[in-house]
Amino acid sequence: MIATEEVAVVEHPVEANLLNLLVVEDERTVRECCREVARSLGFHVLTAASREEAELALEGTNPDVLLLDLRLPGSNGFDVLRSVKSKSPGTIVIVMTGFATVQSAVQAMKLGAYDYITKPFNYEELRLALERVTAHLKLTAENRVLREQLRSKQGFGQIVGHSPEMEKLYRIIAKAAHSTHPVLILGESGTGKELVARSIHYAGPFKDKPFIPVDCGSLVPTLIESELFGYVRGAFTGAVRPKEGLLATAEGGTIFLDEVGELPIDLQSKLLRAIQEKEIRPVGGTRSVPINVRILAATNRDLDTAVSQGNFRRDLYFRLNVLNLRIPPLRERKADIPLLIGHILDRINNSTQMQHTIGDDALRAMLDYDWPGNVRELENSLERACTTCSLPVIHFSDLPTALQNFINQSKAPEPVEIPTVITPLEELEKRAILRAINVLDGDKLEAARRLGIGKTTLYRKLKEYSSADLN
Ligand SMILES: Nc1ncnc2c1ncn2[C@@H]1O[C@H](COP(=O)(O)OP(=O)(O)OP(=O)(O)O)[C@@H](O)[C@H]1O
Ligand SMILES: [Mg+2]
Repeated sequence: MIATEEVAVVEHPVEANLLNLLVVEDERTVRECCREVARSLGFHVLTAASREEAELALEGTNPDVLLLDLRLPGSNGFDVLRSVKSKSPGTIVIVMTGFATVQSAVQAMKLGAYDYITKPFNYEELRLALERVTAHLKLTAENRVLREQLRSKQGFGQIVGHSPEMEKLYRIIAKAAHSTHPVLILGESGTGKELVARSIHYAGPFKDKPFIPVDCGSLVPTLIESELFGYVRGAFTGAVRPKEGLLATAEGGTIFLDEVGELPIDLQSKLLRAIQEKEIRPVGGTRSVPINVRILAATNRDLDTAVSQGNFRRDLYFRLNVLNLRIPPLRERKADIPLLIGHILDRINNSTQMQHTIGDDALRAMLDYDWPGNVRELENSLERACTTCSLPVIHFSDLPTALQNFINQSKAPEPVEIPTVITPLEELEKRAILRAINVLDGDKLEAARRLGIGKTTLYRKLKEYSSADLN
């Protein structure tokens, strides 16, 4: 039997070191000891008691670390070592060997093993060996990140920002990029969730494979199902040809489930099954198709609440939330604003052949503003200012009216009468959205753009308002 320890990872997502470790050891007590120690260091552990079981486990996963007993019943560990080194050269192998056979450990090192420990060993020796490996892997990952940063000179890939919050984010992205576990990306609208998902994919070992984003919020439920899972010929009227689902198209790469909180509940079950079984059944089909795809998901909804209200499956939430990554809103990392402005203006100037710069008054206001639409709102504001402003320097008066009003109001003297009615933020948001649509004669796309939120977010909110009104 091959045992997995999924639960440990799910229950302590933050402490997990995101590395997979396979123990190949026929003696049960030693196997258990290895599992215990590895788990306590945050590894995701698989175990195998024979060469056959090891081969089986290696078919389904490329472990980051292999703890290998050189003496296995009916075989020897060298076969497993050769096989793992040819299939997955990056796997770090630690061999376990009897004291009398240290010579074989030397031979194993020549074949590519990283380290060895002699039996009998105690918890502490094993723990030290595994800690050495973790440090080694961490360094390798960090070097990769450094190379990536040097290449782009601006944070991680296309992500701009040097605030401590962003530096922390880069470290998590680097870790996530080199794991195959699902990652749940959380953040307000416009904070860069999709950008982060792309960075995780393109900084990882499968960057040459597809990265496929699916907007779960903008498609009608039946369409999402056939998009994700595909369909067979004749599955429904008009299905004259079979269609491959996106989960299959992304083979070997990443599928990014954007707005995953919007996924209808019956599709949530189907997705959960696909993740667990690593196979999908196309609509109208009777046979399952195996898939090998890494799942990234994003939402700006509070999934904890959605789970407690029964709108999101708890088991799917746990599956997706093996690691979660929260992108801070722009108002919590204002130190990044000047850098972002520079980056966005460079891009605009390159494409328009103009030389726009930011004036002190505009910069001051932009630093004071709260940016409810986050980086997307910042981008939109600058794009608009650059098109409307005929002079090279952008001033306060070129900034969006909403921003100017916010600054002017915050400068205005306190009203004599302090209002006693407290309006919930949600209500204020609703009023702002409805007013914008009204002022723009029903143009929702423009309203979303001017409010600095995604069109999906706007449509979702309108849906929520109308269903609330019906209740
Ligand atoms: N840190 C950043 N550095 C540079 N550009 C950024 C950063 N964060 C976001 N952006 C830019 O802001 C815009 C919005 O980002 P993105 O679409 O990734 O946000 P999102 O969180 O997915 O938004 P939504 O919830 O509305 O879908 C994009 O054009 C993106 O390139
Ligand atoms: Mg998005």
